Amino acid sequence: MGFNLQNLEAALQAGRKHTYLPFSLHFFESVSSTNQTLWNLLNQGAISGTVVIATQQSAGRGQWGRQWISPVGGLYVSVAISFDHKIEANDSYQLTFATAWGIASQLRQCGIDVGIKWPNDLVLNDRKLGGILTETKVNKGQITQAVIGVGINWINPVPETGINLESWQASQDFRSISCLEILTSKVLLGIESGMECLFQEGVNILLSGYLDLLTNIGDRVYVNNLSGTVVGVTPQGNLRVDLETHHTKELITPEIYIEPGTISLGYHKSSV
Ligand code: BTN
Repeated sequence: MGFNLQNLEAALQAGRKHTYLPFSLHFFESVSSTNQTLWNLLNQGAISGTVVIATQQSAGRGQWGRQWISPVGGLYVSVAISFDHKIEANDSYQLTFATAWGIASQLRQCGIDVGIKWPNDLVLNDRKLGGILTETKVNKGQITQAVIGVGINWINPVPETGINLESWQASQDFRSISCLEILTSKVLLGIESGMECLFQEGVNILLSGYLDLLTNIGDRVYVNNLSGTVVGVTPQGNLRVDLETHHTKELITPEIYIEPGTISLGYHKSSV
């Protein structure tokens, strides 16, 4: 089950109207982590748009320091981005949101009903299809370089809360993604269109697209024994929740902001 880089290059060319990121593709059979390999290449002078793809990872990195189990059959890809525009370290979630929105939009254009689970999960049928890990290098409070890593379940085995794209496609009467190379091209084009939206149209336009695909809007969550409703996200990546509290007998709904990683929304309608 080889990976055909020429097929990927052809798919990228066919799917591109313009080139916002000058992709330069690097393929490896096995690495510890595509994010780590890409940081190594950047330290040796690689430029924005450099891409690392691997068939498997021995120490794939997930969010919050977790491991990302990465057997053959999954997609493991990282893209390097550097910035002409100033982007504050505190705004790094905008890169993750741009990536999630861009990839989900690309897959939706293929008839695959992908949504986003806050902050960085790609979901299909209320199960995890993939995840995004953004790592940044910061100088004087500004992001100078970012590595955006994406893992997508293609034909690899998944846990109960996960789903792989091939099994989903097998249950449909169409199959729009025929191979891992095409899936990789959709992911790269999605990252490119997400960055283009963020840097050319601005964070407010990006957030409105992200919110349209966010599956958590309207979810009931419990924070410190108080019930609340998810109403959105902030440009810094926090979840906006309207809490329900009573002041004397009147119901009031102050808005609170929850940082990524401090609650889990779960995969089966949630609580904390
Ligand atoms: C998550 O925990 O949901 C994010 C997972 C991100 C995994 C991808 S796989 C390619 C890239 N390289 C890594 O080591 N991690 C990311």
